[in-house]
Amino acid sequence: MHKDIEKILYSEQDIKNIVKRLAKEIEKDYNGKDFIMVGLLKGCVSFMVDLMREVNLDFSIDFLAVSSYGNSTVSSGRVNIQKDISTSVDGKHILIVEDIVDSGRTLAFISQYLYAKNATSVKICTLFNKPDRRVTDIDVAYVGSVIPDAFIVGYGLDYAERYRNLPYVGVLKESVYSQDT
Ligand code: PRP
Ligand code: MN
Ligand code: MG
Repeated sequence: MHKDIEKILYSEQDIKNIVKRLAKEIEKDYNGKDFIMVGLLKGCVSFMVDLMREVNLDFSIDFLAVSSYGNSTVSSGRVNIQKDISTSVDGKHILIVEDIVDSGRTLAFISQYLYAKNATSVKICTLFNKPDRRVTDIDVAYVGSVIPDAFIVGYGLDYAERYRNLPYVGVLKESVYSQDT
């Protein structure tokens, strides 16, 4: 285990089981639909790669790079698009893939953005949900797991751009970020 991790919350096997379950739900709902799986970079990376290989349907993929946290544990409240989607969403069903929904600001913004570009439907698949911290009213169709309000990293989730490469998800030791906040 990495020295900055307090404890592991989701092992590689735990995550695999969650991904398989979500993929089955998606297969059932999207069978026969023309859809694009859109990952929100960078947090989605590990999840997106694993999820898309478990969904046995024909679909395309794309990415949007958005950021609101920067190098902090607290959201700035502003969502910046750093890389736009490269295919047309006009008339398409969109399934957004996220690592975590926290305040909900990122997804509220991106859903509106994709509907404004004429998407037929926009649904959200997130690995983790922190409903206690929600400040916007958004509907999350697929949730891997509901998590408590601890600062977690790994499997795509970062603190100051670090720990994304960990294959598990763990709680970050408070000493790592206490000087920064
Ligand atoms: C994190 C996370 C989600 C978002 C959730 O991204 O990956 O995208 O914040 O927070 P919210 O519900 O309060 O908007 P971040 O802005 O840190 O960028 P990253 O994915 O590149 O780490
Ligand atoms: Mn993100
Ligand atoms: Mg981040």
